[in-house]
Amino acid sequence: MSENSLYQRNIVTTKELSLDDVNLVFATAQKFKQQKHGNQLQNKIIASCFFEPSTRTRLSFESSTIRLGGKVVGFTSDEALSVQKGETLYDTMRVISSYADLIVIRHSQEGAAALAEQAASCPIINAGDGANQHPTQALLDLFTIQECQQHIDGLSIALVGDLKYGRTIHSLTQLCALFDIRLYLVSPETLTLPESVSDLLKKKGIRFSFHDDLKEVIPKVDVLYFTRIQQERFGAAEYQLVKNQFILTSDMLSKAKPNLKILHPLPRVNEIAPDVDNTPYAYYFQQAANGLPVRQALLSLILNESLP
Ligand code: CP
Repeated sequence: MSENSLYQRNIVTTKELSLDDVNLVFATAQKFKQQKHGNQLQNKIIASCFFEPSTRTRLSFESSTIRLGGKVVGFTSDEALSVQKGETLYDTMRVISSYADLIVIRHSQEGAAALAEQAASCPIINAGDGANQHPTQALLDLFTIQECQQHIDGLSIALVGDLKYGRTIHSLTQLCALFDIRLYLVSPETLTLPESVSDLLKKKGIRFSFHDDLKEVIPKVDVLYFTRIQQERFGAAEYQLVKNQFILTSDMLSKAKPNLKILHPLPRVNEIAPDVDNTPYAYYFQQAANGLPVRQALLSLILNESLP
């Protein structure tokens, strides 16, 4: 029997994932793309703890659980929780972990998932903590890149938009560092990649460069990964200055490489015009659909010692 390196692991950041871990998730997700239902989570209860809004992450985790025979408890805001009476996040997580086999947590506070990891007696999956990390999104992003390009090593990828507050960016760049990828970082000057993340890329020998002209970058890359400006993470005045700086329209793609694919973790606000949806380059809805097999893979690997 092959080893399951993810059994009973926490997924808090992508920093702690090895290349072997990532390949195991991808191979297992590939199986779930063919076989959409199973019993890997029979008798398991997943606590779906969403303190912040979500469409894709929450519903794909819950759907994954149900498709694999498990059950879900949880909430979509803290309004009906005893945090309203002053209970701490630490105590809340400690108690919920005694009711569930695994906790999926999304929270506006950076470090919330790491705190939950300390408090809980069951595995934790970080479904997004403030502007910090969104590791399962990064896994499904890279799985999608492999799917649409047939390989990862040797690719040129542009990361566009809010690289400062975009948690999917922070998680994805760390995963990219496991591969031979060339990164083009395209953002307003005020929303560039945090130094802590670019330092890690330097340490790993990843080639990257900073840009503010999207048109100049488009012909050079295999993947354009767009992100939304994270309006909720900074002030209204600052948002007004950067909100419409990068908007992709289909006429901007005339010099794109034939294999170019456009990704976006969604939700989009206005970063990608609807006319791009009908081009052969758009792949963001397939990307969102891949949330299901990738999260099925993670849940089943964390909760079963034997490989699915
Ligand atoms: N991509 C993503 O995290 O989407 P939701 O906020 O809808 O979960």
